[in-house]
Amino acid sequence: MTTQQLIKKLEQEFDINAIFAQHVLLYTKGKFDPKKTQELIDEKAKPFVKWVGGKRQLLKQFRKLGLYPPEGFDASKNTYFEPFVGGGAVFFDLLPQKAMLSDMNKELVTTYNVIKNNVEELIQSLKKHKHNKEYFLKIRAQKVQNLSEVEIASRFIFLNRTCFNGMYRVNSSGEFNVPFGDNKNPLICDEENLRKVSLALKKVSIKHQDYKAVLQKAKKGDFIYFDPPYYPVSKTASFTGYTKDAFLDKEQIELRDTFFELHKRGCFVMLSNSDTPFINKIYSELKDKKITINIVEAGRAINSKGTGRGKITEVLVTNY
Ligand SMILES: C[S@@+](CC[C@H](N)C(=O)[O-])C[C@H]1O[C@@H](n2cnc3c(N)ncnc32)[C@H](O)[C@@H]1O
Repeated sequence: MTTQQLIKKLEQEFDINAIFAQHVLLYTKGKFDPKKTQELIDEKAKPFVKWVGGKRQLLKQFRKLGLYPPEGFDASKNTYFEPFVGGGAVFFDLLPQKAMLSDMNKELVTTYNVIKNNVEELIQSLKKHKHNKEYFLKIRAQKVQNLSEVEIASRFIFLNRTCFNGMYRVNSSGEFNVPFGDNKNPLICDEENLRKVSLALKKVSIKHQDYKAVLQKAKKGDFIYFDPPYYPVSKTASFTGYTKDAFLDKEQIELRDTFFELHKRGCFVMLSNSDTPFINKIYSELKDKKITINIVEAGRAINSKGTGRGKITEVLVTNY
């Protein structure tokens, strides 16, 4: 069997993506080894925060459409970029050898770097947290500028696990303001997964920067996945709050232009957004046959009084 055939077999039998299948083959010395493959799947790191807009449920669909990962992307030579990394569902799915992650949420980026460089101290700190509303409010009120990096990461994970629905929202001064959640028994310190994440991040760069910085580093053959704050589906449905800066019409058009710039450079570019007339319009203005707007079902049904009809759709724009 050729390597390509083996990768296909692994993808089908284990429901994994082609890049992770290549990673498996490195460990199985190029042989089909079901036991070792299952071990590697079980050992895989998972996102360490719950993040609104997490892409986990959608990845299978992207794969079935043949759009993910891009066939021509060679993960042994080129780099994967995720400039709106959030919880990093796509990064953790792919686990590529070379990756550059970034986000404008400074505390999130600090948390990634503490997990990468100082995971044992973080685990010790997480174990000290308590789970009650009074304690939650005390931790939430802490001023981040007075904390060490380990304390910032510990507070960040604690609030994410114990706040309402794992949301992240800040007020106009950038202070976290999500209320106490109703999960009776949240797993605040998942030490096993944190150690796996730490290993997965060892060779990865994680920076606090605007997504446009990707233009300084990305080269022909690299793969960039953009998962920006979505354009609101309706005026009332607008969810902002990941950072204190809005991400509306002007920002979406600038992002579209960044997408096109990377396309002209010969990168593989994939972008998610809401399926709205505005988003469809701005990407259809890119008159290049390679750029396609694919409609995918978001997997969460619209809350339409139990009729069971109507799934929310999203777009996946690709240039390959
Ligand atoms: C839709 S979420 C990404 C979700 C992620 N794919 C996941 O699986 O969890 C959007 C992210 O973009 C970040 N963000 C907002 N504006 C940004 C900017 N200008 N540059 C980089 N990141 C930004 C937010 O902090 C947030 O983490």
